[in-house]
Amino acid sequence: MNYEYILVNEQVAEYVAHIQLNRPKELNALNLQLMQEIKHALGELDENDQVRAIVISGNERAFAAGADIKQMAGKTAIDMLKIDQFSTWDAIRRTKKPLIAAVSGFALGGGCELVMQCDMVVASETAQFGQPEINIGVMPGAGGTQRLTKAVGKVRAMEMVLTGRFISAEEAKAAGLINKIAPVELYLDEAIAMAKLAASKSPLAVQLAKESVLKAFDTHLQEGLYFERKNFYMLFASEDQKEGMAAFVEKRKPDFKGH
Ligand code: CAA
Repeated sequence: MNYEYILVNEQVAEYVAHIQLNRPKELNALNLQLMQEIKHALGELDENDQVRAIVISGNERAFAAGADIKQMAGKTAIDMLKIDQFSTWDAIRRTKKPLIAAVSGFALGGGCELVMQCDMVVASETAQFGQPEINIGVMPGAGGTQRLTKAVGKVRAMEMVLTGRFISAEEAKAAGLINKIAPVELYLDEAIAMAKLAASKSPLAVQLAKESVLKAFDTHLQEGLYFERKNFYMLFASEDQKEGMAAFVEKRKPDFKGH
């Protein structure tokens, strides 16, 4: 598939791929095609054995300034229902490999929600996060009221969603929305380094561990614990478990093959 609004590098570092949102004039506003392209690229990278972690970034000025307001402005409720744009987001959420967001500049509305679909987040010092949908007469529609509340707690989420106030990278880090802040010239490298670290582990263990952490969002504790336990036991069927534990005992670096 030829992409119009994203750039894909399947090997930005060993076992690490990079998707860059590429609608710079519109601050990477997430139109329907761009979201379809991300979904398609993630599907292909998920199938590619040479990829074990994926970095998603925008550019220095904007990660993404939200869903494309111009594309939505004239729609009716029934148009929105039929277009069902958020089913694309559900597919992105099912990506098996770790997703690392590298965020600089604006991460607003759907942009902030896309960041929250990722598993880890590195931001530049200039990053700003917000859910400003309230300013245009709507509200978050791609998980903002749910994931933001789980990430930063009720009162902070309420302030962002009800007043539209943006928060800085510092505030986002203090609130637990992001992992790390880096200077603007380094944030992408730092995100790639984080991805490389996850990519150096057993891909099977990483996949099941990611699935298990995400389960905590969907279920109550006891069911989540059973789910985790089964995934833990299942990893003992892998060669990577034998290799990882043998390497520890033999005091050497493990060589994980993904089997
Ligand atoms: N949709 C469509 N176009 C957008 C856009 C968006 N979300 N955000 C920015 N753009 C466009 C602007 O219209 C402008 O285009 P033109 O040059 O053709 O006029 C271009 O990008 C540059 O933007 P600005 O001139 O506005 O740049 P600025 O630096 O003055 O302001 C900003 C930057 C504060 C981010 C401002 O652009 C802004 O407020 N954008 C909208 C943010 C927003 O409300 N996002 C939520 C969208 S709704 C949503 O996401 C729903 C959901 O939950 C999925």
